[in-house]
Amino acid sequence: MTTAPLTTTPHDGHPPPPAVGIHGVSKSFGPRGSQQPALDGIDLTVAPGEFVTLLGASGCGKSTLLNLIAGLDEPSAGEIHLSGGRPALMFQEHALLPWLTAGRNIDLALRLRGLPAPERRTETERLLELVRLGGSRDKRIHELSGGMRQRVALARALAQDSRLLLMDEPFAALDAITRDVLHEELVRIHSATGVSVLFVTHNVREAVRLAQRVVLLSSRPGRVVGEWEVAIPQPRRIEDAEVSALSLDITDHLRREIRRHGRH
Ligand SMILES: Nc1ncnc2c1ncn2[C@@H]1O[C@H](COP(=O)(O)OP(=O)(O)OP(=O)(O)O)[C@@H](O)[C@H]1O
Ligand SMILES: [Mg+2]
Repeated sequence: MTTAPLTTTPHDGHPPPPAVGIHGVSKSFGPRGSQQPALDGIDLTVAPGEFVTLLGASGCGKSTLLNLIAGLDEPSAGEIHLSGGRPALMFQEHALLPWLTAGRNIDLALRLRGLPAPERRTETERLLELVRLGGSRDKRIHELSGGMRQRVALARALAQDSRLLLMDEPFAALDAITRDVLHEELVRIHSATGVSVLFVTHNVREAVRLAQRVVLLSSRPGRVVGEWEVAIPQPRRIEDAEVSALSLDITDHLRREIRRHGRH
């Protein structure tokens, strides 16, 4: 992970290509003849260095869209373009290797990048410091709390040195206080590294607390039905009056969408 913020100033007069460009993407599941649409005509871009949250009710296709962007599945229609190479992924479950220490889990990701041992040692230390786990390098995963495990998972995602971080409800299982701390860390890391982030959540306040832009998906099949630029300066807190006000506005919109969906 480079630490210099990503510049968005074009060298040749053209704006830089988006980190993620999604054009008319639809996805259906099921056998031919009785296919069920999960996503319908999604158009969405994430600019280089932008932090976007993707918000929607359970089952609306958020994970499906993230999986398509990650290349784990193929769209039924439409195109997805990534400008920064392979994205790093972080899921709700940490997916770390439990028999290895925190440091070894990160080391493994660095090894996959082909870094030599001395560099891996320095980089592991740096990443553990970045997620405020400097003293826990030699702890095994089962010795760590849920919040600490998610920090190791975040460090491991960053170890992939990707320009795009795809996060699927990574803090949903954590208590409110730990989640609050990790929100702070994530915003700090985003501004320190300039990585582009697409963060999926069904929690409206979390979406507003974190993002530069919130994108709302309708219930199944998922369609983009609303977008909000979040101009509230960071650091924000989830309890801030401005965060609450915008969250209420978005929640009202979400409710109307769910009601409308229910009539069909
Ligand atoms: N591999 C699959 N095969 C068949 N149906 C699928 C598959 N993956 C997802 N679906 C269906 O697509 C819809 C969207 O699922 P998805 O997991 O993307 O929702 P989500 O928005 O991530 O929900 P949640 O907030 O609960 O995680 C659901 O109805 C789900 O049952
Ligand atoms: Mg999901």
